[in-house]
Amino acid sequence: MAKVFKRTNMCGELNISHIGNTVVLNGWIQRKRNLGGLIFCDLRDKTGIVQIVFNQDVPQKLFEMADRLKSEYVVGIKGQVKERESKNQQLATGEIEIFVEDLVIYSESETPPIYIKDDDDVSENLRLKYRYLDLRKNRMQKNLIFRHNMMKITREFFDKEGFTEIETPMLIKPTPEGARDYLVPSRVNQGKFYALPQSPQMFKQILMVSGVDRYFQIVKCFRDEDLRADRQPEFTLIDLEMSFVDIDDVLEIQERYLKHLFKELMNIDIELPLPRLSYDEAMERYGTDKPDTRFGFELQSINEIVKDCGFKVFTGAIESGGDVRGININGYNDRFSRKDLDRLQEEIKVYGAKGLAWMRVEENEIKSSFSKIIDEETLNKIAKAFNAKANDLILIVAGPKKIVFDSLGFLRREIAQRLGLIDNTKYNFLWVLDFPLFEYDEEEGKYNSMHHPFTSPKDEDIDLLDTDPLMVRAKAYDIVLNGVELGGGSIRIHDKDLQKKIFSILGLSDEEIESKFGFLLEAFKYGTPPHGGLAYGLDRMAMILCNEKSIREVIAFPKNQAAMCMMSGAPSEASEELLEELKITTIKG
Ligand code: AMO
Repeated sequence: MAKVFKRTNMCGELNISHIGNTVVLNGWIQRKRNLGGLIFCDLRDKTGIVQIVFNQDVPQKLFEMADRLKSEYVVGIKGQVKERESKNQQLATGEIEIFVEDLVIYSESETPPIYIKDDDDVSENLRLKYRYLDLRKNRMQKNLIFRHNMMKITREFFDKEGFTEIETPMLIKPTPEGARDYLVPSRVNQGKFYALPQSPQMFKQILMVSGVDRYFQIVKCFRDEDLRADRQPEFTLIDLEMSFVDIDDVLEIQERYLKHLFKELMNIDIELPLPRLSYDEAMERYGTDKPDTRFGFELQSINEIVKDCGFKVFTGAIESGGDVRGININGYNDRFSRKDLDRLQEEIKVYGAKGLAWMRVEENEIKSSFSKIIDEETLNKIAKAFNAKANDLILIVAGPKKIVFDSLGFLRREIAQRLGLIDNTKYNFLWVLDFPLFEYDEEEGKYNSMHHPFTSPKDEDIDLLDTDPLMVRAKAYDIVLNGVELGGGSIRIHDKDLQKKIFSILGLSDEEIESKFGFLLEAFKYGTPPHGGLAYGLDRMAMILCNEKSIREVIAFPKNQAAMCMMSGAPSEASEELLEELKITTIKG
């Protein structure tokens, strides 16, 4: 075993102030160039890269050892820092190099299957299979450290505010957050299963009953749902709960936290208070409850103008309770060919849209996909409603509200993206409030909670629970950043009778209530403080702040799109013995 060199410095920190110093470094060989009498290597550790040099003044044995080096060999070196003759401005350490006097090779490396460089564009599955190599990349190391700093600052902030970090169990009863559970069979209680937590929701509420007053936890959660760029089957929450609070108390402390986090992490000043929008307004103006407000193209209803226009697509939508709404891509008409519009029409079909109507506003005329059907006066009224000027393009969708909102919400984002109008240096936060408490599931013919069933209705809407549940608004709030839902929460129900009533509106029988939530209702019998809280998706927050497009880039060992760990091969088959012990039989597909 080669002895381990005791390092004096990290590679990336060396600069002209170290000239003349003898330093000891440990790291990986990024690459080697042998110029005959001189061997240059780039040595890398988590802080960066520095150039090391072997010249022929060194003993023959050392020079020969240097000649054996290859990419990803792990070495230790001792040498003197000298000023470089030809400086490399691209490299942080580019003004110096190290003339090596001693070298130890700790381990050799086979040719790695992926390059250790940030802009390597191999498939993601290959990156995930060799994640340990992928993580050696400078960008990935930076992301890991960034995430660590986020957690550190978060812990320090909430500690100072009187929150206690308390771990809650991983083997629990199902928590209703709306996704499928991951089940874990119990060996000692055969035929029974634990669920992995979708969130610590019920436990954190019970901690309020326990008098903890302010709880937080950075905690892994598990949800078996279809994966997307911002979803993983296991992800991390910054989970919080507070006693004796109302909405404004929760939002106030969270705003101070977000401001502090951004200042400490990125030296960015966020202006407080953060803007607030009601759910209805968010939907009406942006077509989504998580609007990206870094760009315009807001939605505009034209129901009033077109309700008697004679164009069946429009009038029919309104008559059947739907909507005719559009967005003005102002100033960009000339950027859209007829083909582009056809393509956009195709793209919104996934949201159920039957078509895309358009109006091109030109210097002296308006051209539109419906100008043969709708008279000029109405066309002008529509143009006026959108404040249209020359070179504006108005895109209109008609149909049931959900389809209209989803389609236009998509078009707004997609077009801003394609036109390059999204400013990546902007951080636009937004609270969305006044969500409906319930949504109606047409297929199953029942109400579902929009957040979760522990969310309190607004006091002034409680009477509507009996008469018109869909009109009941919730004391719920979501925090949105640049169009991504970072987190959400609510003031909870702390009255056991009201909680029971909500469960029964959700269609749960007394037996189901007792078996699923009996322990929570029992706890509520013994003195429950009013309480509320929220949870942030830590991975999503890190993704946005690291300017990444997927949360997989900020998670050390993520699952791929098929929920598999490419590195370890999970999930895998269980052994016959284990299944036998658990009394589980599997059906081979
Ligand atoms: P919610 O279900 O809104 O709230 O989750 C909180 C936040 O967690 C993130 N998130 C995810 N991130 C990655 N992958 C996933 N599969 C995933 N699912 C959710 C989102 C989301 O906003 N118990 C409540 C909070 C509360 O009421 O206090 C809850 O979990 O950023």
